[in-house]
Amino acid sequence: MIRSRIVGTGRAVPTKVLTNADLMRMVDTSDAWIVERTGIRERHILEPSLAASDLATEAGRKACDKAGIAPALVDCIIVGTVTGDCPFPSTATFVQKKLGARPGSCAFDLSAACAGFLYGMSIADAFLRVGQFKHVLVIGVEVLSRITDWTDRGTCILFGDGAGAVLMTAGDDGGASPRGLLSTHLFADGGLTDILLQPIGGSREPATPENLATKRHFIQMNGREVYKHAVRNMAAGARTALEVNGLKADDVAWVVAHQANIRILEGVSDRVGIPMSRFFTNVDRYGNTSSASVPTALDEALEMGKIKQGDLLLFAALGGGLTWASAAVRW
Ligand code: COA
Repeated sequence: MIRSRIVGTGRAVPTKVLTNADLMRMVDTSDAWIVERTGIRERHILEPSLAASDLATEAGRKACDKAGIAPALVDCIIVGTVTGDCPFPSTATFVQKKLGARPGSCAFDLSAACAGFLYGMSIADAFLRVGQFKHVLVIGVEVLSRITDWTDRGTCILFGDGAGAVLMTAGDDGGASPRGLLSTHLFADGGLTDILLQPIGGSREPATPENLATKRHFIQMNGREVYKHAVRNMAAGARTALEVNGLKADDVAWVVAHQANIRILEGVSDRVGIPMSRFFTNVDRYGNTSSASVPTALDEALEMGKIKQGDLLLFAALGGGLTWASAAVRW
Protein backbone atom coordinates (compact mmCIF):
# COMPACT_ATOMS: atom_id res chain seq x y z
CA MET A 1 0.00 0.00 0.00
CA ILE A 2 1.20 3.51 -0.81
CA ARG A 3 1.56 5.61 2.31
CA SER A 4 3.07 9.03 2.92
CA ARG A 5 5.96 9.49 5.28
CA ILE A 6 7.85 12.31 6.96
CA VAL A 7 11.44 12.14 5.72
CA GLY A 8 12.84 15.39 7.13
CA THR A 9 11.99 17.91 9.85
CA GLY A 10 13.25 21.37 10.75
CA ARG A 11 12.49 24.33 12.98
CA ALA A 12 13.38 28.00 13.18
CA VAL A 13 13.32 29.88 16.46
CA PRO A 14 13.92 33.65 16.78
CA THR A 15 16.95 34.52 18.90
CA LYS A 16 15.22 37.08 21.13
CA VAL A 17 13.82 35.51 24.32
CA LEU A 18 11.04 37.13 26.37
CA THR A 19 10.89 35.68 29.88
CA ASN A 20 8.12 35.84 32.46
CA ALA A 21 10.33 38.30 34.37
CA ASP A 22 10.35 40.54 31.29
CA LEU A 23 6.52 40.34 31.14
CA MET A 24 6.30 41.32 34.80
CA ARG A 25 7.83 44.67 33.78
CA MET A 26 5.19 45.10 31.05
CA VAL A 27 1.89 44.00 32.70
CA ASP A 28 0.55 43.21 36.17
CA THR A 29 1.47 39.52 36.39
CA SER A 30 3.90 37.17 38.13
CA ASP A 31 6.14 34.30 37.14
CA ALA A 32 4.29 32.05 39.61
CA TRP A 33 0.87 32.88 38.09
CA ILE A 34 2.03 32.25 34.52
CA VAL A 35 3.87 29.01 35.35
CA GLU A 36 1.00 27.63 37.45
CA ARG A 37 -1.74 28.42 34.90
CA THR A 38 0.18 27.71 31.68
CA GLY A 39 3.57 26.05 32.30
CA ILE A 40 5.20 28.77 30.16
CA ARG A 41 8.50 30.30 31.33
CA GLU A 42 9.73 32.03 28.18
CA ARG A 43 8.88 32.55 24.53
CA HIS A 44 10.80 33.73 21.44
CA ILE A 45 9.99 36.96 19.61
CA LEU A 46 10.92 37.67 15.99
CA GLU A 47 13.10 40.70 15.29
CA PRO A 48 11.18 43.55 13.58
CA SER A 49 13.11 43.36 10.30
CA LEU A 50 11.97 39.76 9.63
CA ALA A 51 8.61 38.24 8.64
CA ALA A 52 6.88 34.86 8.74
CA SER A 53 8.37 33.77 5.40
CA ASP A 54 11.91 34.22 6.78
CA LEU A 55 11.25 31.85 9.66
CA ALA A 56 9.29 29.46 7.43
CA THR A 57 12.08 29.35 4.85
CA GLU A 58 14.70 28.53 7.51
CA ALA A 59 12.59 25.68 8.92
CA GLY A 60 11.76 24.43 5.41
CA ARG A 61 15.40 24.48 4.34
CA LYS A 62 16.41 22.43 7.38
CA ALA A 63 13.66 19.87 6.66
CA CYS A 64 14.88 19.55 3.04
CA ASP A 65 18.50 19.21 4.20
CA LYS A 66 17.64 16.47 6.70
CA ALA A 67 15.67 14.62 4.04
CA GLY A 68 18.52 15.03 1.53
CA ILE A 69 16.03 16.51 -0.96
CA ALA A 70 17.05 19.68 -2.82
CA PRO A 71 14.43 22.47 -2.65
CA ALA A 72 14.26 22.31 -6.47
CA LEU A 73 12.65 18.86 -6.09
CA VAL A 74 9.83 20.14 -3.84
CA ASP A 75 6.58 20.00 -5.84
CA CYS A 76 4.32 21.75 -3.34
CA ILE A 77 4.73 24.06 -0.34
CA ILE A 78 1.84 24.28 2.10
CA VAL A 79 2.10 26.93 4.81
CA GLY A 80 -0.29 26.85 7.76
CA THR A 81 -0.39 30.34 9.26
CA VAL A 82 -2.64 33.12 10.55
CA THR A 83 0.22 35.64 10.69
CA GLY A 84 1.59 35.45 7.16
CA ASP A 85 3.71 38.18 5.57
CA CYS A 86 0.59 39.94 4.20
CA PRO A 87 -3.08 39.11 3.39
CA PHE A 88 -2.00 38.21 -0.14
CA PRO A 89 -0.04 36.85 -1.88
CA SER A 90 0.43 33.75 0.22
CA THR A 91 3.42 33.32 2.50
CA ALA A 92 4.06 30.04 0.68
CA THR A 93 4.84 31.96 -2.53
CA PHE A 94 7.45 34.05 -0.68
CA VAL A 95 8.89 30.85 0.77
CA GLN A 96 9.08 29.23 -2.67
CA LYS A 97 11.28 32.09 -3.91
CA LYS A 98 13.43 32.39 -0.76
CA LEU A 99 13.97 28.64 -0.55
CA GLY A 100 14.96 28.34 -4.19
CA ALA A 101 12.11 25.97 -4.98
CA ARG A 102 11.00 25.66 -8.64
CA PRO A 103 9.02 28.54 -10.14
CA GLY A 104 5.85 26.85 -11.37
CA SER A 105 5.67 24.43 -8.46
CA CYS A 106 2.58 24.62 -6.23
CA ALA A 107 2.54 26.93 -3.18
CA PHE A 108 -0.37 27.98 -0.98
CA ASP A 109 -1.32 28.95 2.57
CA LEU A 110 -4.08 27.44 4.64
CA SER A 111 -5.89 29.02 7.54
CA ALA A 112 -6.75 26.65 10.37
CA ALA A 113 -5.02 28.53 13.22
CA CYS A 114 -3.25 26.19 15.66
CA ALA A 115 -4.54 23.14 13.76
CA GLY A 116 -2.98 24.52 10.55
CA PHE A 117 0.02 22.22 10.50
CA LEU A 118 -2.05 19.03 10.92
CA TYR A 119 -4.54 20.26 8.31
CA GLY A 120 -1.55 20.79 6.00
CA MET A 121 -0.14 17.35 6.73
CA SER A 122 -3.51 15.80 5.88
CA ILE A 123 -3.72 17.65 2.55
CA ALA A 124 -0.11 16.70 1.74
CA ASP A 125 -0.95 13.07 2.52
CA ALA A 126 -3.84 13.15 0.04
CA PHE A 127 -1.71 14.75 -2.71
CA LEU A 128 1.07 12.21 -2.18
CA ARG A 129 -1.08 9.10 -2.04
CA VAL A 130 -2.88 9.89 -5.30
CA GLY A 131 0.49 10.57 -6.91
CA GLN A 132 -0.15 14.23 -7.74
CA PHE A 133 3.14 15.29 -6.11
CA LYS A 134 6.32 13.46 -5.05
CA HIS A 135 7.69 15.84 -2.43
CA VAL A 136 5.53 18.15 -0.32
CA LEU A 137 6.89 20.60 2.24
CA VAL A 138 4.45 21.37 5.05
CA ILE A 139 5.31 24.36 7.24
CA GLY A 140 3.61 25.82 10.30
CA VAL A 141 4.76 29.37 11.01
CA GLU A 142 3.49 32.14 13.25
CA VAL A 143 4.60 35.59 14.27
CA LEU A 144 1.93 35.96 16.93
CA SER A 145 3.91 38.74 18.63
CA ARG A 146 2.69 41.05 15.83
CA ILE A 147 -1.01 40.47 16.66
CA THR A 148 -0.65 40.33 20.46
CA ASP A 149 -1.78 43.20 22.68
CA TRP A 150 1.24 43.60 24.95
CA THR A 151 -0.89 45.50 27.47
CA ASP A 152 -3.41 42.63 27.88
CA ARG A 153 -2.17 40.26 30.58
CA GLY A 154 -4.91 37.75 29.73
CA THR A 155 -3.32 36.95 26.35
CA CYS A 156 0.22 38.36 26.09
CA ILE A 157 1.67 35.78 28.47
CA LEU A 158 0.66 32.91 26.18
CA PHE A 159 2.07 33.44 22.73
CA GLY A 160 5.42 33.17 20.94
CA ASP A 161 6.91 33.11 17.43
CA GLY A 162 8.45 30.23 15.50
CA ALA A 163 8.29 27.85 12.55
CA GLY A 164 8.42 24.11 12.07
CA ALA A 165 8.48 22.09 8.86
CA VAL A 166 8.29 18.54 7.55
CA LEU A 167 9.19 17.19 4.14
CA MET A 168 6.81 14.42 3.10
CA THR A 169 7.03 11.85 0.37
CA ALA A 170 5.18 8.63 -0.42
CA GLY A 171 6.18 5.05 -0.99
CA ASP A 172 5.37 1.45 -0.23
CA ASP A 173 4.53 1.19 3.45
CA GLY A 174 6.38 -2.04 4.19
CA GLY A 175 3.37 -4.37 4.23
CA ALA A 176 2.62 -6.27 7.44
CA SER A 177 3.94 -3.63 9.85
CA PRO A 178 3.33 -0.43 7.93
CA ARG A 179 5.33 2.74 8.55
CA GLY A 180 4.22 6.26 7.74
CA LEU A 181 1.04 8.26 8.14
CA LEU A 182 -1.70 5.89 9.34
CA SER A 183 -4.55 8.41 9.45
CA THR A 184 -5.51 12.06 9.76
CA HIS A 185 -8.79 13.49 11.04
CA LEU A 186 -9.88 17.11 10.57
CA PHE A 187 -12.68 18.88 12.44
CA ALA A 188 -14.20 22.36 12.76
CA ASP A 189 -17.08 23.99 14.63
CA GLY A 190 -18.03 27.35 13.15
CA GLY A 191 -20.43 27.93 16.02
CA LEU A 192 -17.39 28.86 18.13
CA THR A 193 -15.71 31.48 15.92
CA ASP A 194 -16.22 34.13 18.60
CA ILE A 195 -14.07 32.62 21.39
CA LEU A 196 -10.68 32.98 19.69
CA LEU A 197 -10.17 35.39 16.81
CA GLN A 198 -8.51 38.46 15.30
CA PRO A 199 -11.62 40.44 14.31
CA ILE A 200 -10.03 43.37 12.48
CA GLY A 201 -7.97 43.26 9.31
CA GLY A 202 -10.26 41.31 6.99
CA SER A 203 -13.27 42.23 4.85
CA ARG A 204 -15.75 42.40 7.73
CA GLU A 205 -13.83 45.02 9.70
CA PRO A 206 -10.98 46.41 7.57
CA ALA A 207 -7.91 47.96 9.16
CA THR A 208 -9.26 51.53 9.09
CA PRO A 209 -7.98 54.06 11.67
CA GLU A 210 -11.38 53.93 13.44
CA ASN A 211 -11.36 50.14 13.70
CA LEU A 212 -7.70 49.99 14.76
CA ALA A 213 -8.45 52.42 17.60
CA THR A 214 -10.56 49.67 19.24
CA LYS A 215 -7.44 47.43 19.41
CA ARG A 216 -9.43 44.48 18.10
CA HIS A 217 -6.76 43.80 15.47
CA PHE A 218 -5.06 42.00 18.37
CA ILE A 219 -5.97 38.44 19.44
CA GLN A 220 -9.32 38.32 21.27
CA MET A 221 -9.89 35.26 23.42
CA ASN A 222 -12.31 33.85 25.95
CA GLY A 223 -9.65 31.83 27.79
CA ARG A 224 -11.97 29.69 29.89
CA GLU A 225 -14.12 28.62 26.94
CA VAL A 226 -11.09 27.88 24.76
CA TYR A 227 -9.56 25.84 27.58
CA LYS A 228 -12.68 23.70 27.97
CA HIS A 229 -13.06 22.97 24.25
CA ALA A 230 -9.32 22.41 23.79
CA VAL A 231 -9.21 19.61 26.36
CA ARG A 232 -12.45 18.01 25.18
CA ASN A 233 -11.81 18.19 21.42
CA MET A 234 -8.09 17.36 21.38
CA ALA A 235 -8.85 14.31 23.51
CA ALA A 236 -11.76 13.28 21.26
CA GLY A 237 -9.61 13.70 18.15
CA ALA A 238 -6.81 11.65 19.69
CA ARG A 239 -9.22 8.88 20.67
CA THR A 240 -10.65 8.82 17.12
CA ALA A 241 -7.13 8.35 15.73
CA LEU A 242 -6.58 5.37 18.03
CA GLU A 243 -9.97 3.76 17.41
CA VAL A 244 -9.81 4.03 13.61
CA ASN A 245 -6.44 2.26 13.60
CA GLY A 246 -7.44 -0.40 16.14
CA LEU A 247 -4.84 0.92 18.60
CA LYS A 248 -4.86 1.35 22.38
CA ALA A 249 -3.48 4.15 24.54
CA ASP A 250 -0.66 1.81 25.61
CA ASP A 251 0.51 1.47 22.01
CA VAL A 252 1.44 5.17 21.82
CA ALA A 253 5.13 5.95 22.29
CA TRP A 254 4.79 9.74 22.10
CA VAL A 255 1.96 12.26 21.95
CA VAL A 256 3.11 15.30 19.98
CA ALA A 257 0.29 17.73 20.64
CA HIS A 258 -0.22 21.45 20.17
CA GLN A 259 1.76 23.19 22.91
CA ALA A 260 -0.90 25.66 24.05
CA ASN A 261 -0.64 25.23 27.77
CA ILE A 262 0.61 22.48 30.09
CA ARG A 263 -2.76 22.22 31.87
CA ILE A 264 -4.55 21.59 28.57
CA LEU A 265 -2.06 18.80 27.82
CA GLU A 266 -2.61 17.36 31.31
CA GLY A 267 -6.37 17.38 30.70
CA VAL A 268 -5.91 15.56 27.39
CA SER A 269 -3.58 13.06 29.08
CA ASP A 270 -6.27 12.26 31.69
CA ARG A 271 -9.03 11.86 29.12
CA VAL A 272 -7.05 9.72 26.67
CA GLY A 273 -5.38 7.64 29.38
CA ILE A 274 -1.81 8.30 28.25
CA PRO A 275 0.55 9.49 31.03
CA MET A 276 2.24 12.90 30.73
CA SER A 277 5.61 11.08 30.63
CA ARG A 278 4.66 10.14 27.06
CA PHE A 279 3.66 13.68 26.05
CA PHE A 280 6.56 15.58 24.50
CA THR A 281 6.42 19.12 25.89
CA ASN A 282 8.41 22.26 25.17
CA VAL A 283 5.71 24.84 25.96
CA ASP A 284 7.86 26.07 28.88
CA ARG A 285 10.47 27.41 26.42
CA TYR A 286 8.34 28.48 23.43
CA GLY A 287 4.85 29.34 24.69
CA ASN A 288 2.00 28.84 22.26
CA THR A 289 3.34 29.19 18.70
CA SER A 290 0.06 28.10 17.09
CA SER A 291 0.59 26.20 13.82
CA ALA A 292 4.36 26.04 14.45
CA SER A 293 4.06 24.15 17.71
CA VAL A 294 3.49 20.57 16.52
CA PRO A 295 6.28 20.46 13.90
CA THR A 296 8.65 22.30 16.26
CA ALA A 297 7.96 19.75 19.00
CA LEU A 298 8.41 16.88 16.55
CA ASP A 299 11.73 18.24 15.33
CA GLU A 300 12.99 18.79 18.86
CA ALA A 301 11.87 15.33 20.04
CA LEU A 302 13.73 13.77 17.11
CA GLU A 303 16.83 15.85 17.78
CA MET A 304 16.78 14.71 21.42
CA GLY A 305 16.70 11.09 20.24
CA LYS A 306 13.36 10.42 21.91
CA ILE A 307 11.62 8.96 18.84
CA LYS A 308 12.77 5.57 17.51
CA GLN A 309 11.93 3.80 14.28
CA GLY A 310 8.65 1.90 14.70
CA ASP A 311 7.33 4.21 17.45
CA LEU A 312 3.64 5.10 17.27
CA LEU A 313 3.18 8.89 17.38
CA LEU A 314 -0.15 10.52 18.12
CA PHE A 315 -0.65 14.13 17.00
CA ALA A 316 -3.43 16.47 18.13
CA ALA A 317 -4.08 20.20 17.87
CA LEU A 318 -6.86 22.75 18.33
CA GLY A 319 -7.15 26.40 17.41
CA GLY A 320 -9.37 29.30 16.41
CA GLY A 321 -12.45 28.47 14.36
CA LEU A 322 -12.62 26.31 16.28
CA THR A 323 -10.59 23.86 14.23
CA TRP A 324 -8.99 20.71 15.52
CA ALA A 325 -7.20 17.70 14.09
CA SER A 326 -5.43 14.48 14.94
CA ALA A 327 -3.06 12.11 13.19
CA ALA A 328 -1.42 8.76 13.87
CA VAL A 329 2.06 8.08 12.47
CA ARG A 330 4.16 4.93 12.66
CA TRP A 331 7.72 6.32 12.63
N1 COA B 1 -1.35 37.40 35.60
C1 COA B 1 -2.02 37.50 36.76
N2 COA B 1 -3.37 37.44 36.84
C2 COA B 1 -4.05 37.26 35.69
C3 COA B 1 -3.41 37.13 34.45
C4 COA B 1 -2.00 37.23 34.43
N3 COA B 1 -1.30 37.12 33.29
N4 COA B 1 -4.35 36.95 33.49
C5 COA B 1 -5.53 36.96 34.10
N5 COA B 1 -5.36 37.15 35.43
C6 COA B 1 -6.37 37.22 36.48
C7 COA B 1 -7.74 37.63 35.95
O1 COA B 1 -7.84 39.01 35.83
C8 COA B 1 -8.64 37.08 37.01
O2 COA B 1 -8.64 37.94 38.11
P1 COA B 1 -9.99 38.23 38.93
O3 COA B 1 -10.39 36.90 39.51
O4 COA B 1 -9.55 39.24 39.93
O5 COA B 1 -10.96 38.72 37.92
C9 COA B 1 -7.94 35.79 37.44
O6 COA B 1 -6.56 35.94 37.04
C10 COA B 1 -8.54 34.56 36.79
O7 COA B 1 -8.66 34.82 35.39
P2 COA B 1 -9.14 33.73 34.39
O8 COA B 1 -9.10 34.27 33.00
O9 COA B 1 -10.44 33.15 34.85
O10 COA B 1 -7.97 32.64 34.60
P3 COA B 1 -7.87 31.19 34.11
O11 COA B 1 -7.66 30.30 35.24
O12 COA B 1 -8.95 30.83 33.11
O13 COA B 1 -6.49 31.23 33.29
C11 COA B 1 -5.76 31.25 31.00
C12 COA B 1 -6.38 32.06 32.14
C13 COA B 1 -5.70 32.14 29.77
C14 COA B 1 -4.37 30.83 31.41
C15 COA B 1 -6.65 29.98 30.75
O14 COA B 1 -8.00 30.36 30.60
C16 COA B 1 -6.23 29.22 29.54
O15 COA B 1 -5.18 28.62 29.51
N6 COA B 1 -7.06 29.20 28.46
C17 COA B 1 -6.71 28.59 27.22
C18 COA B 1 -5.91 29.58 26.41
C19 COA B 1 -5.27 28.97 25.20
O16 COA B 1 -4.57 28.00 25.30
N7 COA B 1 -5.53 29.59 24.03
C20 COA B 1 -5.00 29.19 22.81
C21 COA B 1 -5.54 27.88 22.37
S1 COA B 1 -4.95 27.45 20.81
